[in-house]
Amino acid sequence: MVLIEKDFDWRLRVFDSMSFPTLILAPDKTIIAANEIFLKQIDERQPNIIGKTCKEIFRKHFPHQYFPCSDMECPLLKTIEFKTGQSILLKFKDPEGRDRWEDRVFSPILGDDGEVKYIIESFRDVTRVKTLEKMYSGVWELIDKVVQTSVQAIIAADRSGTIILMNHAAENLFGYSLTDTRKLNIEEFYPQGIAREIMKKLRDENLGGKGKLPLTIVDIVTTNGLVVPVEMTAAIIYEDDREAATAAIFNDLREKQAVEKKLFETQSQLIQSEKMASLGRLAAGVAHEINNPLTSILLYGNMMREKLEKNHPLRKNLEYVLEDAGRCKEIVKNLLAYSRQTNPTRQVFELNKLVEESLSLIHDQKLFMHVTIVKKLSGDPILINADMNQLCQIVINLIINALDAMEGKGVLTFRVYQEEETQKAYLEVVDTGCGIPEEHISKIFDPFFTTKELGKGTGLGLSMAYGIMEENRGSISVKQTGSTGTTILLELPLTTMY
Ligand SMILES: Nc1ncnc2c1ncn2[C@@H]1O[C@H](COP(=O)(O)OP(=O)(O)OP(=O)(O)O)[C@@H](O)[C@H]1O
Ligand SMILES: [Mg+2]
Repeated sequence: MVLIEKDFDWRLRVFDSMSFPTLILAPDKTIIAANEIFLKQIDERQPNIIGKTCKEIFRKHFPHQYFPCSDMECPLLKTIEFKTGQSILLKFKDPEGRDRWEDRVFSPILGDDGEVKYIIESFRDVTRVKTLEKMYSGVWELIDKVVQTSVQAIIAADRSGTIILMNHAAENLFGYSLTDTRKLNIEEFYPQGIAREIMKKLRDENLGGKGKLPLTIVDIVTTNGLVVPVEMTAAIIYEDDREAATAAIFNDLREKQAVEKKLFETQSQLIQSEKMASLGRLAAGVAHEINNPLTSILLYGNMMREKLEKNHPLRKNLEYVLEDAGRCKEIVKNLLAYSRQTNPTRQVFELNKLVEESLSLIHDQKLFMHVTIVKKLSGDPILINADMNQLCQIVINLIINALDAMEGKGVLTFRVYQEEETQKAYLEVVDTGCGIPEEHISKIFDPFFTTKELGKGTGLGLSMAYGIMEENRGSISVKQTGSTGTTILLELPLTTMY
């Protein structure tokens, strides 16, 4: 160790005992002193480096290393110029080729004239900190990637509800973007009051534990006001036992619900078809058995009536018998039609014609006395290929049902239209009647389901319609029903040729 001035001795001792390598440099970049740890590190003795420039020493010991020595970059020159401490971070390769990081700190020592007289340069190995930093940012990047690529929508909000994180799936679901200039608040993401309710549940220890919300189905609101059902879980993020943020994960339920609905509809259709098929077989059997005795009752009854004089006391009774037997015959005819024991004959015709024909077949025009009939028929011909007589039976039943529901007064509308995409023709029969109660909707296509008084309805009308529509590759359904009326929809495939 070279002494610069006698009374510097104790300071140099401090300098030597410093735990990180340190140099004292003159403003001309020459080395004035080096502490022991520095000498040990470069395996040199003090006299060999004193008076040399820092550049010479570094070049000698780290020949492949880049140092910021140009006048523009040199931190020592900046220390002199600004008279304040400077620091620079250098990346090294150690002899084993591993990355090392060094933080070099330059501190000025000012003379009595206020100018920089010496510069202390200390070397701090920050490799550990840098490695941890890199690891941390690597983990953070990975977490960010996992969150951003998740198909589930993920959002996080701070204590005031301001959104601080939102992945791509959440941006798509809610229609907002985190890069929106205005602050987004979590309350905007739910219908009014729901965000508060969720926070209440989150803090409830009896619901999935404190700070956790188990899988819950709620509605959210998108940026354009659409209400979307979602399945969500959420959690409060605590820092030292204090609520710092909340995070939530959402799954859009629209597709799932649509599939479930479709499945339910298909299942109900299947059940309905099975029910119809077995009842059809039963009906056919019963109808056949009754048909023959009925025919003879009517035959012999009519013969008797012809023989009886006009004022014979038994004539009235016989007429009752014949009348009821006639009604039975009608039911049997319907049952046979229902069980498809009649032969359908298909033809191509215009759907508009079905409305006109059916209306003209209702002879009792008194039924329409207080009913306004509105025909919204199609301008262009809409062609279908079906059994005209069978379809007329369906429409007549729909008309009678509608008139019954309206108790003889109201508006009865027919709407005929087609759809290019589905290649289907549609006929709607709309009434302004009492509507079908919710609990009846699943039953009205069942054979013998009727709400009409005894002798007025057999409950076969709609079930026959169901079977006939299926046979004609179409369908019948309740499009809408409520206190203002009912719309029954017939769907049939379009055809092009006559
Ligand atoms: N437009 C309608 N408005 C309200 N209820 C209706 C309507 N159409 C049908 N219904 C209900 O559905 C039931 C079944 O109808 P469906 O046509 O099968 O039998 P019905 O009319 O009772 O008897 P049928 O047609 O055999 O004479 C009806 O009894 C009625 O309760
Ligand atoms: Mg009916």
